[in-house]
Amino acid sequence: MNEEQPSGDLTLRTMAMPADTNANGDIFGGWVLSQMDLAGGIAAGQRAEGRVVTIAVDKMKFIRPVHVGDVLCVYSEVIRVGTSSMEIRLAAWALRHRYGQREKVTEAIFTMVAVDEDGRPRPVPKIFVESAGATFGPKLKQRLQPQNAFIRVQR
Ligand SMILES: CC(C)(COP(=O)(O)OP(=O)(O)OC[C@H]1O[C@@H](n2cnc3c(N)ncnc32)[C@H](O)[C@@H]1OP(=O)(O)O)[C@@H](O)C(=O)NCCC(=O)NCCS
Repeated sequence: MNEEQPSGDLTLRTMAMPADTNANGDIFGGWVLSQMDLAGGIAAGQRAEGRVVTIAVDKMKFIRPVHVGDVLCVYSEVIRVGTSSMEIRLAAWALRHRYGQREKVTEAIFTMVAVDEDGRPRPVPKIFVESAGATFGPKLKQRLQPQNAFIRVQR
């Protein structure tokens, strides 16, 4: 039994169709990559509050094949924010035959860059978190790196 569970936000769900197959009848790796790029664009675009482009894909691993009729679920997590760039950890999971066993099929780290209307890099907005006396757990602190987040705590 597969004990690993998806982590991050479920950002995209779609079904693998016959048109996405290669000559062997399996789903093209390029199709899966494209779905992950879409999910990365959604996650990065939300974090950057605007237009983003993909500049690099690292550590891409195709773990298991995807088959026609599988539901592909792509989970995303922003793991680093630079000045204009963001690293997004993406993992694609297949729900076999739409409702069956869930298996991780692909993972990768995408680097996306926030760009302006002319396609030039622009700074990713800083995050402001305001809270009335709340404490912040280690997971949130890790996501809100000091250079990118201002935490205003109202007491
Ligand atoms: C993304 C793009 C605007 C960046 O322009 P650029 O002149 O290279 O910009 P910079 O050198 O200032 O780099 C911008 C950021 O990307 C990062 N970066 C550059 N090359 C990188 C690489 N190979 N891997 C990871 N990050 C990289 C830089 O470190 C910088 O990050 P920071 O601002 O957080 O410090 C430009 O390369 C571009 O338009 N590329 C095509 C994007 C595209 O069309 N994608 C879809 C492919 S089909």
